[in-house]
Amino acid sequence: MADADTPAAAAAAHDSGPDAAVGSAAVDSAVDSGERVRQMQALLNHHSALYYTGKPEIPDGDFDALLAELKALEAVHPELVHPDSPTQRVGAPPDTAFAPVPHTPPMMSLHNALDLDELRAWNERVHRALVASAGSGAGADSAEPADATELEASATGGDPLPATPSRDPRIPMVGAYAVELKFDGLAISVRYEDGVLVRAATRGDGRVGEDVTHSVRTIADIPIRLEGPDAPAVLEVRGEVFLRLSAFEKLNVRQSERGEKAYVNPRNAAAGSLRQKDARVTAERGLSFWCYQLGSVEGGPSFPSHRETLQWLKSLGLPVNEHSAVLADLAAVRAHIAQFEGQRHDLGYEFDGMVVKVDDLATQAQLGVDAKAPRWAIAFKFPPEERTTKLLDIEVSIGPSGQATPFARLEPVFVGGVTVGTATLHNEDQVAAKDVRVGDTVIVRRAGEVIPEVVGPVLSERSPDSQPWVFPRDCPVCGEPVQRDEGASATLCVNYSCPRQVRGRIEHYVSRHAMDIEYLGERNIDRFVTEGLLGDLADPADLADPAGLYSMDFERIGAMEGFGDTSANNLRKSIEDSKHRTLGRLLFGLRIPEIGRVNAETLAGAFGDIDSIVAASEEDLAEVEGFGPIIAAAVRRWFDEPRNRELIERLRQAGVTMKEAAVAADPEAPSQTLAGMAVVVTGTLAGFSREEAKQAITARGGTSPGSVSGRTAALVAGADVGASKTRKAEGLGVPVIDEAAFKTLLDTGELP
Ligand code: IVH
Repeated sequence: MADADTPAAAAAAHDSGPDAAVGSAAVDSAVDSGERVRQMQALLNHHSALYYTGKPEIPDGDFDALLAELKALEAVHPELVHPDSPTQRVGAPPDTAFAPVPHTPPMMSLHNALDLDELRAWNERVHRALVASAGSGAGADSAEPADATELEASATGGDPLPATPSRDPRIPMVGAYAVELKFDGLAISVRYEDGVLVRAATRGDGRVGEDVTHSVRTIADIPIRLEGPDAPAVLEVRGEVFLRLSAFEKLNVRQSERGEKAYVNPRNAAAGSLRQKDARVTAERGLSFWCYQLGSVEGGPSFPSHRETLQWLKSLGLPVNEHSAVLADLAAVRAHIAQFEGQRHDLGYEFDGMVVKVDDLATQAQLGVDAKAPRWAIAFKFPPEERTTKLLDIEVSIGPSGQATPFARLEPVFVGGVTVGTATLHNEDQVAAKDVRVGDTVIVRRAGEVIPEVVGPVLSERSPDSQPWVFPRDCPVCGEPVQRDEGASATLCVNYSCPRQVRGRIEHYVSRHAMDIEYLGERNIDRFVTEGLLGDLADPADLADPAGLYSMDFERIGAMEGFGDTSANNLRKSIEDSKHRTLGRLLFGLRIPEIGRVNAETLAGAFGDIDSIVAASEEDLAEVEGFGPIIAAAVRRWFDEPRNRELIERLRQAGVTMKEAAVAADPEAPSQTLAGMAVVVTGTLAGFSREEAKQAITARGGTSPGSVSGRTAALVAGADVGASKTRKAEGLGVPVIDEAAFKTLLDTGELP
């Protein structure tokens, strides 16, 4: 037995709480033992609680030593071993772990309603059963005709329950409905004797479950001791153990850090966490609990309704979900269900439906149970968001930029409200990480509006001769080899002429924010390409057929099925109009890497025409406001590519405008005194706002970038100019001019 010199006793002695004296107390006095055991139990419960919140005050070794000391004391005084002693709560599982526990009454299941019609049908059965039992007790003859009228009314679409009480008092009413969330975890039964948790068991087959007391004791939501002075002699409650989504995500992060497999969903994770031999592992998982049903009670109050029972359980410190409601009729039940179906992903934990229970307990007793489930309750199930199905094949699709994406071809399955036949697998690494193989039974998820995904394989159903999937070497569209760069996650088809890429280029070029060509959607592009009417954006170098966008044969198009001269003409006009879009749109349409809509406009504004961009150095490009070296390099690389230069030339030959539209299109434009010149404006000018100055420059064919570079023709310095700008200009040999010289420059294009 420990004395005051052991680390355990020392740790206890240094504790400044109410138990500080415990460790140094005399231990050999049988008179003091009871008090001492109780104090140590309190002390260790205190440290154990801190341990499980992740903020221990004493090292694990000290805790273990204290625990050993308490165990030794309890061994001498077994009469002092209380179920809520920390020796019963943590550490090695008791010998009873997973031992069979009979359930009295049995833990029943629930019948399901998969849609509102089935809910209505359940309600009618309930109603009919109540009428029948009332009839048999109080004269069936008089009850039946009225009942028939009721049921007829319901069959024509109205609620089977009248909104106002029945006119015939002999016809019993279902009364109110208690509606709860159907939590997606696993059912357990928890038994309290004289207010202390003594046993917890899984549902098992409903008659006999498994003892998981050691694990359940670590669940913070489940009190070890009931609150208040009036705990009944025996109380058995039922409820659902589950993992909140936050705890689930944390658990999977830890699993992957430890090189363990991730859990596929919170429900499996909760089940796995509860069935741990080492309760410390369970504790670390952070399980939660909602209590939803009374099992049995001895020596306690009784209540007339389910709702009041739940209120009482809540008053004893048991967690009852706040979204439980009691509703007067089926219409209200339906509205309530609809409301929560819409919040399915908003509560931080999963629920896969709603449970509707007849609230009145006498009515429940009257309705009774059948072999599987009570007649007084029904589970309204939302469409499942996870289902298993067969993975028929893994294929690769090629995106418009050549990205090769693996996807699963599935035996069609109804999940998340739609039938799913394919699901993305994202990339090669994802397939490997999930280790999904052709022929596997896989879990498919479609939550909310999210695209369907394969969560993972059901390993227990894997065939022994299944093989890991290997990424194909060739593009499934053009047959050329695919490529995956080192460090990249994506695999690409790099064949510029791959038909998918050709179509992708055209789709992007004609899109609304690019060249905005109407009547040329994906379907028509696909058709024209397939029928050899359209070969690429611009005419190919060697032959004119298939033609580029600007030399399509509109006569042939007019003769195509579903077209006609008018549509062909509209299309021709729309393509013709696109020759005069702004430079920004053209640049965006060319799908230059890093050049989205905003950067395209910036680039157009900074250079004014495509030849200046072609001529610009990487440094010049990096000087463009908001660009920097990465974008500059990407742009330079694209313009250095001979086939891109060729594309530009061919588009130009086709008549596509390659200058800022304001310059090219406006016949009223002032003379082009600044053509090709970059003039930067800084500081405050007397005669122009900053915007007016810019407009004056661009209207004369110049550009007005935001910052000075080697290719700046002049820096116009107004009042309050920052020294850094003029210094930079001077350093680069760029002339710095005042407002008067700027006016001369606009008129004549000459610098003083
Ligand atoms: S009452 C005798 N209420 O659903 C009635 N069950 O499909 C016992 N469940 O095994 C069940 N939320 O695990 C009830 N609010 C709730 C529930 C609920 C989830 C689970 C429970 C049960 C299963 C039946």
